[in-house]
Amino acid sequence: MNIDLLQMVESGGCSAKIPAKQLEEILRCLPLPDDPDILVNIETHDDAGVYRVNDELALVFTTDFFPPVCSDPYEFGQIAAANAISDVYAMGGKPVIALNIMMFPAAKLPVDAYKEILKGGVDIAFRAGVKIIGGHTIDDFPPKYGLAVVGYIHPQKIITNAGARSGDILILTKPVGTGVILAGQRLGLTSESDVSQVKAFMKLLNNSGADIMNKYDVTGATDITGFGLAGHALKMARASSVSITLNLGRLPLIGSTYALTDQGCIPGAAFRNLEYVENEAHVEDDLDYNLKMIAYDAQTSGGLLMAVSPEKADEVISELHNKGLDTSAKIGFVTEKQEKFLYLYK
Ligand code: CO
Ligand code: CO
Ligand code: CO
Repeated sequence: MNIDLLQMVESGGCSAKIPAKQLEEILRCLPLPDDPDILVNIETHDDAGVYRVNDELALVFTTDFFPPVCSDPYEFGQIAAANAISDVYAMGGKPVIALNIMMFPAAKLPVDAYKEILKGGVDIAFRAGVKIIGGHTIDDFPPKYGLAVVGYIHPQKIITNAGARSGDILILTKPVGTGVILAGQRLGLTSESDVSQVKAFMKLLNNSGADIMNKYDVTGATDITGFGLAGHALKMARASSVSITLNLGRLPLIGSTYALTDQGCIPGAAFRNLEYVENEAHVEDDLDYNLKMIAYDAQTSGGLLMAVSPEKADEVISELHNKGLDTSAKIGFVTEKQEKFLYLYK
């Protein structure tokens, strides 16, 4: 099939999110439903909502969808599904069922592209043990695809943005740079290897990370998506009433992310994230500008950022490496709340 989905969009994937600042303003206007069975609501800006069914079982419920991040419809479906399911893993849940959410320009694209997107979604869902049991389509341009996912979780074992504690070590399970590399691809600045690496990471499920978090009783985590590493770390620090220091020199990067940033390949979403985080962050005076902007780079289907107690951090890292997540690294730590929520250091 000779279709290039990327030609239809200006910003795809999680870069197409509404700016965090604006979204928070909008959400503030909504009344919060009052129900003791709602265990996680939008107040902590978590990855998913959680609703208690009984003392043994709660449902993790989430949705994500976005415009294309790559040219090939099948791969787009895979990435969108991995990204949507990730929000259940980020809470420590087990994803179970899902619905397709599809916006598709029937007059502008052959129906085969539609089939391929859905097929990519089903294949990744299958790998995650998720059954897709329905969905909904609207005729719309550009195409958008994602899932609404329901997962199971024990009501006492929910991992949230609010669960980071002073002393915890921050571990990131996937390297950063999807926004920069996808922007570089548009400008023709990337190699084949950059693009294939970035796609492989976006398709990679966060299931092993979730298993390991459960095994080591991690209580605080999130996945890194459209608000960038710094944006999501800020949300975690705020929800947990702690401060977070990120050591950006330790950040694992995908392919030529640093070189591309150095050439000025910094997508607009990174500047929107910077604007959101800026007032709450202290940036070390001589911090490398490229590293700083990489911390703001919007990720699509990024890794888990987990707050792990210091005694367990080394074991968690070696388990992640054993599971093939060999770029997992300690990239920062949590302290008591200081003047700022976020500290960006070398
Ligand atoms: Co998320
Ligand atoms: Co999400
Ligand atoms: Co979470």
